[in-house]
Amino acid sequence: MRVLITGASGGIGSAIIDQLRGNDEVEVWATCRHPRSAQIPGIHTVFSDLDRPASMRPALEGVDCVFLFSFTRQEVLPELVDALSVAGVTKVVVLSTIDTTRHEPFVEYNKQRHLAVENAIIDGGFTTVSLRPGAFARNAIRFWASQIRRDRTVGLPFPDSQQAPIADEDIAAVAVRAITTPHLDGAKIVLTGPDSLTMRDQIGLIGEALGESIGITVLCEREARALYGEVLPPEYLDLLMGQWAFETTERAVVTDAVREITGRGAVTYREWAIAHREAFV
Ligand SMILES: NC(=O)c1ccc[n+]([C@@H]2O[C@H](COP(=O)([O-])OP(=O)(O)OC[C@H]3O[C@@H](n4cnc5c(N)ncnc54)[C@H](OP(=O)(O)O)[C@@H]3O)[C@@H](O)[C@H]2O)c1
Repeated sequence: MRVLITGASGGIGSAIIDQLRGNDEVEVWATCRHPRSAQIPGIHTVFSDLDRPASMRPALEGVDCVFLFSFTRQEVLPELVDALSVAGVTKVVVLSTIDTTRHEPFVEYNKQRHLAVENAIIDGGFTTVSLRPGAFARNAIRFWASQIRRDRTVGLPFPDSQQAPIADEDIAAVAVRAITTPHLDGAKIVLTGPDSLTMRDQIGLIGEALGESIGITVLCEREARALYGEVLPPEYLDLLMGQWAFETTERAVVTDAVREITGRGAVTYREWAIAHREAFV
């Protein structure tokens, strides 16, 4: 079976490729928008841009199954479905989001963007598996690592906002099951880390992994928008400001799907922080 992993340079795409190494049943191809600078050892890496489905045709040659990032613009979805169909792809594993299951107004943009991809693939007649993860543990690197490296302090608008952060390798492990077995065909799976943790808890565990205490500065909305606007596009800044405020009012959803599907418990935040401590030094 030939599998195409889109977003191969990203955290989840690269973890899937690592976990498929050594599986003689699966020939892995990968796509990237900068393949010259991102050649992956031992993996046939092909240029393609999901926003320009015609660019995917060479990457799709002889491919049976695609791991699909939802980075496609809605208006090109029919063209993408056509490219997959013409190539003879039979199964698509879609990286979606838990926001597809939520009803608060602030998730609407993200929800509709991901539902459009899930539904286009299902309606295209492919065997589909939708992976719907909650917050990534890796967000801590994107949001907090430079603050921690610089000041040993993190600015937060809502320190008591709770998430159940999930590690890339857990999403990847479920994706590998979806790709290599029929057991998850047709499923829409909400994936989370094992514990609902406040941001204060998460930063405490990063400090523990570093062997030092990390301070927290509570920011007003204007300060938070200026700080997080440096790492987030405006539409996601609005989403996250609404989401973080809301998440102070209740615990994060926690599912046992990683354990049920992979047979082992999801990576805890403590384990994740220890494994990624170098990012904060
Ligand atoms: N962060 C969270 O907490 C969270 C939670 C749930 C769901 N999600 C969803 O998970 C997905 C991944 O997010 P991320 O920020 O963590 O990604 P990431 O790991 O940083 O990787 C993004 C990957 O997508 C590729 N990519 C981006 N635009 C592309 C395009 N137009 N065509 C082809 N490839 C493209 C990039 O490849 P290049 O090398 O080509 O640039 C990169 O490899 C998003 O859809 C997000 O909505 C995120």
